[in-house]
Amino acid sequence: MKKKFNILIINGPNLNLLGSREKKIYGKLSLLDLLNQLNKKAKLLNTNLIHFQSNAEHSLIQKIHDSKNSIDYIIINPAAFTHTSIALRDALLSVNIPFIEVHISNIYSREHFRCHSWFSDISKGIICGLGTDGYFWALKSAVKRLCKK
Ligand code: DQA
Repeated sequence: MKKKFNILIINGPNLNLLGSREKKIYGKLSLLDLLNQLNKKAKLLNTNLIHFQSNAEHSLIQKIHDSKNSIDYIIINPAAFTHTSIALRDALLSVNIPFIEVHISNIYSREHFRCHSWFSDISKGIICGLGTDGYFWALKSAVKRLCKK
């Protein structure tokens, strides 16, 4: 039987408010609806999806540490921590789990302070500006890469 991969989706601060937060930028889909759709997709891909959202940097770091021996791939939207958190970057480097960075909005077409990410250079790939579809593309790509291993 084919190995079932474990993929962890991490969402950073304020993404719990998807669907109500700045809808013109982040869309109308709630985090719960997005996760339901992603779970359906993951099932079709014979993949276990684990989700973690937190507004607290230390909780996100702890989740990454705890994933060391159980998670095959991470899909992360670090949200505002993208632009500030070397601690989160170091956590990802420490566990050495490959990851894809996702942003719902195009961070390069917004305020100047959003143009720098502490994650992009150590990620396997970056998807930004495609709305919540970005998570689906990341999932598809992560599974494809894991199957090739
Ligand atoms: C975001 C972009 C970040 O700049 C912002 O702080 C977010 C969400 C995105 O998904 O577009 O919270 O990561």
